[in-house]
Amino acid sequence: MSLARTTKEPKLPRLPIDFRTRFGPWAIITGASSGIGAEFARQLTIFGFSVVIVARRKQKLDELANMLIKKHAVQVKVIAVDLAQQDGWRTVVEETEQLDVGLLVNNAGVELHGSFFDQRVESHMNLISVNVTAASALAHDIGLRIAKRGSGGIIFVSSLSHRPTPWWATYSSSKSFVTSLGLALRNELKPKGVHVSVLEPGLVKSEMSDAWMRDLSCPDKKWNQMPVEQCVSAAMVAIVHNDAQITPGWRSSAKVHIIGALPTWLSVKITGSASKKCMNAASVNNAE
Ligand SMILES: NC(=O)c1ccc[n+]([C@@H]2O[C@H](COP(=O)([O-])OP(=O)(O)OC[C@H]3O[C@@H](n4cnc5c(N)ncnc54)[C@H](OP(=O)(O)O)[C@@H]3O)[C@@H](O)[C@H]2O)c1
Repeated sequence: MSLARTTKEPKLPRLPIDFRTRFGPWAIITGASSGIGAEFARQLTIFGFSVVIVARRKQKLDELANMLIKKHAVQVKVIAVDLAQQDGWRTVVEETEQLDVGLLVNNAGVELHGSFFDQRVESHMNLISVNVTAASALAHDIGLRIAKRGSGGIIFVSSLSHRPTPWWATYSSSKSFVTSLGLALRNELKPKGVHVSVLEPGLVKSEMSDAWMRDLSCPDKKWNQMPVEQCVSAAMVAIVHNDAQITPGWRSSAKVHIIGALPTWLSVKITGSASKKCMNAASVNNAE
């Protein structure tokens, strides 16, 4: 039996009627002040979830919270923290202790592109702290709670670029970790009734992709940015079906299959030369 929503919101996926009972009533979404994370908050509240929204920009989170509370009869808890800091993810764990959390969306992420050596070491460490350390810590402490409940799920937001990608070296390595952690935990958590899905999107319209496309002077038309709605709807269906990995959209999905079928040395060579072409003259010159 499916629950179809009549709403002016973007078209939602058809999900089982017990979706909220199994994965709610509370969901924690990191990186919810914009892009994919904010869309997770929007879609989950339409399905009746109460949400904990986490990011650094408090004003954006407050605006989103006010909008969601006004539209839906749900509770929204704002946690404005820097997940690159240990007390950031610890605050999320502590401030949600009393909530019945059934779903964790490990989405917050930082991107870096260009030559590995052009970036300050602090930028690489910051990326690792957000994309790897905070995501693992939350998967551990919140995942343990979800496992004790005996039902629920974790969505890890990785990337199509989770294989070694020159010029995106630290980013792609961090996403390799996220994919690997998600797939391993999926096996460990299955007997506990916890679903784990790894979302590996291609290019999705967001602040992050807009910023690097601008920086690299990518022509908008050539790079099909998927709307966040489509990306998040696909992830919601995946977690309900307990799909292991999901890459929304046929173009991105085809890329996964093609790149995945190649030996690693060849895929590194191909993605390396494609990425290098994408770099603007200034950053390429700096790297040489
Ligand atoms: N857009 C794409 O094409 C694409 C493709 C593949 C994968 N992804 C992944 O999708 C996820 C979401 O990205 P997006 O595309 O939606 O980009 P986005 O709009 O830039 O969202 C990134 C989110 O992460 C939060 N964040 C960043 N650093 C943080 C920190 N130190 N502490 C707490 N929160 C932090 C940001 O909030 P604050 O700035 O307010 O802290 C923001 O809410 C990321 O993991 C990204 O790697 C995106």
